[in-house]
Amino acid sequence: MTWSPLDVGDDSPLGFALPAPEDTPITLVDDEPSVLSALGRVLQREGYPVDTFESAEKALERIKRGGVALLISDLVMPEIGGMEAVRRALEEDPNLAVIILTGAADKKTAVESLRLGVDDYLEKPITADALIESVGRVLRRRAQDDYRRKLETWLRNEVSRRTEEVQRYSQQLESVSVATLSTLIRAMEGKDQYMKGHSERVSKLCERMGQVLGLEKGEVADLRTAGLLHDVGMIAVPESIMHKQGPLNDVEYSKVREHVAIAAQILEPLPHLARALGFVRSHHERLNGSGYPTGLRGSDFTIGGQVVAVAEVYASLTEERAHRPAHSPVEALETLQGSQDIWFEGRAVAALVMALKQDPQLKR
Ligand SMILES: [Fe+2]
Repeated sequence: MTWSPLDVGDDSPLGFALPAPEDTPITLVDDEPSVLSALGRVLQREGYPVDTFESAEKALERIKRGGVALLISDLVMPEIGGMEAVRRALEEDPNLAVIILTGAADKKTAVESLRLGVDDYLEKPITADALIESVGRVLRRRAQDDYRRKLETWLRNEVSRRTEEVQRYSQQLESVSVATLSTLIRAMEGKDQYMKGHSERVSKLCERMGQVLGLEKGEVADLRTAGLLHDVGMIAVPESIMHKQGPLNDVEYSKVREHVAIAAQILEPLPHLARALGFVRSHHERLNGSGYPTGLRGSDFTIGGQVVAVAEVYASLTEERAHRPAHSPVEALETLQGSQDIWFEGRAVAALVMALKQDPQLKR
């Protein structure tokens, strides 16, 4: 992924430019024909395209067709008055700029104009200069508002696009780190005829057991990862111990026990694996405190850690080892059920039984 904070792309609306008068059509309404044509002429001389109307109804029809930048409306008119015309016009196009003209200025009208969102309020008789100045000011403000809205929309879209990009990128990084570690594990297990595919099996069992337990999606994914990486620390255990045919002596066994602490050292720098690491840390702990590395007891257990522990023991029992043949699934389950509430929580063992029922391929 290559981008920089300054790379705003070709579609960015950065850079404000005031539209030319010919790009800002004006609708002008006044029931006095002489005023209408005089004001219309002033605006046309300035280059504005102007549509003039003697009734608000006709002016509103024009606004409905769209593309109008500014409505200049007389206040007192027969049938539809100026205020009503402005209200309807703004309903039609909330971004329309509005100037009110009146011969009879009063406070109530001024307040009402403000409330409706009228941009300017001019008292008749109006000089050409005052009209041109007001139109210029109102259109400049409208253009700035348009620009701000466009910029806000663009920024909002840009932020969400970049956020998605960063999330995608960090997800890629996360999956790369898991993929790298699982390659390492495959390579390690590949050297041992008895261990081949062990971690992959534990991972599948953990995932299914997590689903059986109704854990949320993210936790199930962490269980799958923990199953895959539970023995990553074995990488530091000498091969002479790993592949020893007979029983291990105390020194050798203490070396094997170190694999949990080493797994923690490997996984700790990867923050997205924090919960999975918690499960890995406790996969050799037992309810009665006889496990390692900390001899955890009772309420300190997480269900995730128990799932990995049960899945790992079941997988190991049903696989052949150098010093013993593989146990059958029934024998392995009997062993686990026998150690229920002593080593393992009943619900973790029950989850295994259900997982194997749902997916018999996981039995062996
Ligand atoms: Fe282990």
